[in-house]
Amino acid sequence: MFPVVAFLTLACLVGFSSQGPGVLDEITMLEASNSSLLRYPTDFSRDIVPKGIHSHNDYWRDVPLLTALSLGVASVEADVWLVNETLHVGHEMAALTTERTLDSLYIQPLLSILAGQNPKTLFSVNQTSINGVFDTSPTTPLQLLVDMKTDGASTLPFVLSALQPLRELGYLTTCASNGVCTPGPLLAVGTGNTPLEGIQALSPRDLFFDASLTALNSTFDITLSPLASTDYQVAVGWNGIGNISEAQLSAVQRLVGDAHGLGIRARFWDTPGWPIHARNNVWKTLTENGADWLNADELNAAAAMF
Ligand SMILES: *[C@@H]1O[C@H](CO)[C@@H](O)[C@H](O)[C@H]1NC(C)=O
Ligand SMILES: *[C@@H]1O[C@H](CO)[C@@H](O)[C@H](O)[C@H]1NC(C)=O
Ligand SMILES: *[C@@H]1O[C@H](CO)[C@@H](O)[C@H](O)[C@H]1NC(C)=O
Ligand SMILES: *[C@@H]1O[C@H](CO)[C@@H](O)[C@H](O)[C@H]1NC(C)=O
Ligand SMILES: *[C@@H]1O[C@H](CO)[C@@H](O)[C@H](O)[C@H]1NC(C)=O
Repeated sequence: MFPVVAFLTLACLVGFSSQGPGVLDEITMLEASNSSLLRYPTDFSRDIVPKGIHSHNDYWRDVPLLTALSLGVASVEADVWLVNETLHVGHEMAALTTERTLDSLYIQPLLSILAGQNPKTLFSVNQTSINGVFDTSPTTPLQLLVDMKTDGASTLPFVLSALQPLRELGYLTTCASNGVCTPGPLLAVGTGNTPLEGIQALSPRDLFFDASLTALNSTFDITLSPLASTDYQVAVGWNGIGNISEAQLSAVQRLVGDAHGLGIRARFWDTPGWPIHARNNVWKTLTENGADWLNADELNAAAAMF
């Protein structure tokens, strides 16, 4: 749409001649010119529609974070290890390096993406809302799941301070002690060894708790746990081949229903990855029955389900 408008503008300026190039030639020339007429300041993720996919072990990808965003994946996971007062990112201690930290792989790139999505221009001076990472849906937050691998009580303060640059710019979804929440472009959720009491004590709260989907009770609501997760193999178990049993199907429906009754989104991890048709059958059954996040290692395959 926009290139056509730009073309018409240009055509008016230069005087449109029937002897000149056709409309498609003009479009090609304009595109090759890299004209600022064709660029929005905020087109980082143009045409990408966000999807309910969780990038499992996102930091393992050749390009963490950006690969997920390029496919519209709206939730990413980083495993963090507190070593020498620094949060390193990796699957196990032996895989850690000094360069790969929560700050370098996630916090700094997110600061730069969100700065680009929220340019300071003559036109944005009165804007009060903050755009998220997805141009097509600026109010869709990106969920950042921080999986604490080291002791929760000692790791939590470091995660909270790692989030400080995002917090300062108003990028974090925040809930006040009166339960009123202010949505932000990012939703930070702790999992793994994240201590429930430590998250409950936060006021205001801008790091949330990944609850157990099989152990929800009235303690949990979206101001504490916007997300609840469980091990699919244990909670459901169907391998995706043949028909799901009634008991397995009702387990999915009951767990999703429990979460949704509290306004919480449901995620099943450890779903089968192989064979492919079985993996897809499980994903399809989960989404058809209301699961909010497809937990995916193969992001392209998960994106193709939408
Ligand atoms: C297009 O223009 C932008 C902004 O002026 C510039 O950053 C970019 O390098 C240019 N790209 C090409 C291929 O010339
Ligand atoms: C941790 O700090 C100590 C003391 O400064 C240093 O000797 C050690 O190499 C550091 N280890 C890592 C993994 O950074
Ligand atoms: C911003 O608000 C001021 C004061 O109301 C107004 O004069 C100005 O035109 C607004 N700017 C834009 C870009 O809307
Ligand atoms: C709800 O579950 C949490 C976590 O397992 C537990 O600490 C809490 O005591 C439970 N609350 C009720 C009301 O059962
Ligand atoms: C699987 O379910 C379908 C549809 O309900 C049914 O037609 C089919 O007979 C079932 N297959 C088996 C092996 O139970």
